[in-house]
Amino acid sequence: MFRSHTCGELRLDNAGTEVTLAGWVQTVRKFGAITFVDLRDRYGITQLYFNEDLNPQLDAEPLGREFVLQATGKVIERSNKNPNLPTGEIEILVQSFTILNKSAVPPFSIQDDTDGGDDVRMKYRYLDLRRNVIKKNLELRYAVNRATRDYLHGQGFMDIETPFLIKSTPEGARDFVVPSRMNEGQFYALPQSPQTFKQLLMVSGYDRYYQIVKCFRDEDLRADRQPEFTQIDCEMAFVEQEDILVMFEGLIKSIFKQVKGIDYADAVERITWEDAMWHYGNDKPDIRFGMKVANLKSAFNKGGEIVATGELINGADFKVFDEAETVLAIAVPGAAEWSRKQTDELTEWVKRPQIGMKGLAFIKCNADGTYKSSIDKFYSEEKLAAIAQFANAKAGDLILILAGAEERTRKAISDLRLELGERMGLRKKDEFRLLWVMDFPLFEYAEEENRWVARHHPFTSPKPDHIQTMIMNDPFIMSAVDYLKHPYATIKANAYDMVLNGNEIGGGSIRIYQRELQEKMFAALGMTEEEALHKFGFLLGAFEYGAPPHGGIAFGFDRLCAILGGSESIRDFIAFPKNNSGRDVMLDAPATIDEKQLKELSIRLSEL
Ligand code: AMO
Repeated sequence: MFRSHTCGELRLDNAGTEVTLAGWVQTVRKFGAITFVDLRDRYGITQLYFNEDLNPQLDAEPLGREFVLQATGKVIERSNKNPNLPTGEIEILVQSFTILNKSAVPPFSIQDDTDGGDDVRMKYRYLDLRRNVIKKNLELRYAVNRATRDYLHGQGFMDIETPFLIKSTPEGARDFVVPSRMNEGQFYALPQSPQTFKQLLMVSGYDRYYQIVKCFRDEDLRADRQPEFTQIDCEMAFVEQEDILVMFEGLIKSIFKQVKGIDYADAVERITWEDAMWHYGNDKPDIRFGMKVANLKSAFNKGGEIVATGELINGADFKVFDEAETVLAIAVPGAAEWSRKQTDELTEWVKRPQIGMKGLAFIKCNADGTYKSSIDKFYSEEKLAAIAQFANAKAGDLILILAGAEERTRKAISDLRLELGERMGLRKKDEFRLLWVMDFPLFEYAEEENRWVARHHPFTSPKPDHIQTMIMNDPFIMSAVDYLKHPYATIKANAYDMVLNGNEIGGGSIRIYQRELQEKMFAALGMTEEEALHKFGFLLGAFEYGAPPHGGIAFGFDRLCAILGGSESIRDFIAFPKNNSGRDVMLDAPATIDEKQLKELSIRLSEL
């Protein structure tokens, strides 16, 4: 028997028992003839007590950090208890031990608050993974995995694997490609997602499919993006949008319950994409706090309805506002008392290149009903009061106003809102708020390419009422300036994203399932008939053999785990992640390959 117990198991009740433990030496503390060793395994830490006076054969001298040790002895009550350890009331009075393996001195300390920097921890990731914090993250990941499978299995979903060596399916990012030795000069692509396969499975009749699956995208990396990441990928046939929303709210709520013990009783709120942009400046709003954006001057046509006309601010001879394409405000609750120094610091914050604004105007709504403002040279007290009312500000609030070009200003006010939410402690890590963002535009206009691109992907269906607009209009655009007026800009998709605490954790859509409409879609995206057939002939073909109405969604599994674990960096939740340049620093990959391998693949590299 290698071990009788784990290092996390023994308690005072076990006192007097003879046990054998095996694990890694976390620390060695020597006091003359007495040595204490913290022995660690996956389950915890137990203190070993070596006493050479009682047992002269014991020589703990050769023990070093991370040695692999097997020790036998008796469980005894500790005189100096450690309330921070579950095993802290006992220790093992060691009778004999075996060094199962030695260890070189580890390059960083394997503890929660390690002294190891990011690079060295990634290089020795197998040691980093021994740390409790990372282990907890992987345990959480496994719990989310199990909760997902339990729920989907219970709902009759079937896990079906799909291939990794496929043909390119454009979904917005670049493909990773794999050369084929047997088919000289030809390449597979790694799937950006199993999108077309899951649709084919619907055609084949497997009407509830899921997979927890790797996806590969060659895109710029950020804290919430990896080149290979995992999705909970799902598809259903014979469903409408509502069925999907209900089914997958159920999934996330079930994960909350099983993994975090949270009863998310509220219905998941829903917001249209337009409202999200209008009220939060962002298509993935964090609704844990308010501070909604007020549009003081409309450039954004909210569903054909002009909400603010600019009357409040135009014509006061304040050029910055008069000439700006848009003017957006947020009311910060209780911040009227902020000092000059604090507002100056916020002004500097919005002027940073990442935000890129020229300045920040403010109105303080004093408790006595008066106003103090950086723009009171231009606006009378009544005007300021009217602006405050429009911005939903109360006495004691501070209104912050940004003016400038539409897109940048909207992004800036959204960033500012999030920053203030963070600073004011309104983005609590243990509070979870879900939101469906719906009715996305079907198309986005790509100025560089002078063509429409699919906002979600080319298989997403327009809303039924908008199909005619797509069929009846030519996608062609005379000039980039005109695209907002083109009928295609008004077409909405049957697409939805699930947002958790301001992060897009999932996205999906009802799909096109008729060949003609799919062909029209490819044409709208600027594909010729030949191109469409070359790339997606298999899908168009399948749509001729009784494709059922279908739709689905995919969740970012790593992202979901990270948020549930209170972090925004998904790397901490992946056993072997890549760094920000897409490198695996442990493997030192990517790397060059042998001349022989290149030759077999008929590949010659151009001069680098
Ligand atoms: P989409 O591209 O929106 O949809 O991806 C679904 C979810 O996957 C997560 N995600 C990522 N996570 C980590 N690193 C990345 N590089 C990364 N890219 C995306 C996000 C996102 O919401 N086939 C469609 C789904 C469908 O229509 O059913 C798809 O892949 O959380």
